Amino acid sequence: MTGFETAWARLTAAGAAAQGRRIAELFTSEPDRLSRLCVSAAGLDLDLSKQPWSLDDLKVCLDLARLGGVEAARERQFAGAVVNASEGRAALHMALRAPRGSDFRAQGEPVSAEIDAMRDRLAAFANAVRSGVLRGATGRPFRCVVHIGIGGSDFGPRLVWEALRPVAPAIDLRFAANVDPAEIALALAGLDPAETLVVVVSKTFTTQETMTNAAAARAWLRGALGQGGDAHLVAVSAAPDAAQAFGVPGAQVFGFRDWVGGRYSVWSAVGLSCAIGLGGEAFEALLAGAAAMDDHFRSAPLAGSAPVLLALAHMFNRNGMGRPVRAVTPYAQRLRLLANFLQQLEMESNGKRVGLDGQPVAHATAATVFGDAGTNVQHAFFQLMHQGTDIIPVDIIAVRHAREGDPVAQTILLANAVAQAEALMVGRAEREVRAELATKGLTPADIDVQAPQRTFPGDRPSAFILIDQLTPERLGALLALYEHKTFVEGVLWGINSFDQWGVELGKSLAARVLGELQGGPAGAHDPSTARLIDQLKAQP
Ligand code: F6P
Repeated sequence: MTGFETAWARLTAAGAAAQGRRIAELFTSEPDRLSRLCVSAAGLDLDLSKQPWSLDDLKVCLDLARLGGVEAARERQFAGAVVNASEGRAALHMALRAPRGSDFRAQGEPVSAEIDAMRDRLAAFANAVRSGVLRGATGRPFRCVVHIGIGGSDFGPRLVWEALRPVAPAIDLRFAANVDPAEIALALAGLDPAETLVVVVSKTFTTQETMTNAAAARAWLRGALGQGGDAHLVAVSAAPDAAQAFGVPGAQVFGFRDWVGGRYSVWSAVGLSCAIGLGGEAFEALLAGAAAMDDHFRSAPLAGSAPVLLALAHMFNRNGMGRPVRAVTPYAQRLRLLANFLQQLEMESNGKRVGLDGQPVAHATAATVFGDAGTNVQHAFFQLMHQGTDIIPVDIIAVRHAREGDPVAQTILLANAVAQAEALMVGRAEREVRAELATKGLTPADIDVQAPQRTFPGDRPSAFILIDQLTPERLGALLALYEHKTFVEGVLWGINSFDQWGVELGKSLAARVLGELQGGPAGAHDPSTARLIDQLKAQP
């Protein structure tokens, strides 16, 4: 066995030994538990002490990280080496948010000067729209922006906008991702084409959903403004020629390189709509916050690295304790879309069953991620979290100071976040419940029936991330934290976190089925699929 394989075996054994362990008791047996398991990075405070691992288990996990070459892999990634082997690309999104004048290289090619120039161009364009210097075909300023894109060309910008948007924004920024015609119809509803800018975001500029929505928006613009409507089109793409061929004026096409993965692209010109909505300065602050997390990830020792510790905590649950699902519950309405963002980041990056060598992986990979905003989740799936048959670890993200609204409501929100984490870990013992029911006068027979139903087993782990205020900097740091944690997991699982071959089959079959639904010849299908196609083709 190699050292790395031994480290894996130790992790598996540590996870097995942790089954049934009382997490709360670890605080007594491990006096330095809090200091070892709480770290601060780029303004975020991460508390991993409510996790099932002991400090000895932590050591096992850190050994795994060391022997798995996390530090070397990190350096290779920052150096712009080909870490996306199946596509022969670097994954250098950190270069997009680095301080001006940095010297990042993608496979040896300097890229920082080009990025700085793009950032200047993006900020200037955003501010020209905001200030009314750039106007539409009829001379009126733009008051509305419709951002069209899907997947990585949507989740990040949508989340950033929701997280940071003013309560009464100067720019009405809307999003359309789904090819469902309802989405673009709702996005355009009530808007005046003369005051609307349509930003089409697609790395490939071939994505079916985006091209369909973009064509609908272009028709809407042309219908009102004639060919002049094309002046209201903006594109962000790694295929700028395709964008121009679509009708976007060359001066309104913003490019980015193929080493920017879709789900890592919000830092590039893909964030243009947010820069228009929030202002160039706020967008730069978002980048600066992410860069601060990059610095931390690159320089902190493994034992003090927030992304590494978060990855290891998640892996201890996933690989050590066999827990295939994780919840993400931001106690911040503005971070409502975080789980959607993380679903793509983690499940598209690390939802792989074979390694870099094409061989089946030795260990389970990405967990299923789901979630929504607290406190709403308490009235949805927290029943299962507290008393269900499965243990689902949860990331709880809380923001100390609200940006707006009633401070008392904010304190109530925070109290709930803290209390839920406590309740999940500590639970409520059956003997305590029995004693309480007895004081209420229930008969022993009733107590036997009722007490187990009112008992909370506890030992349901949480990672708690506390943010002082939801500024652009802190949001950037939070997203970069999860990016790096996803990278660390991918390294230890031995997979390519930067490709997504698993999305291709469905795309090509959809093209075939579409041909049939539009009257083309019937293809070969399984009986169930053939029946569905027949049903859809039949007249009502
Ligand atoms: O979901 C598959 C995917 O390729 C994602 O990786 C990407 O973010 C999304 O589609 C959109 O792709 P594009 O930006 O090329 O339109």
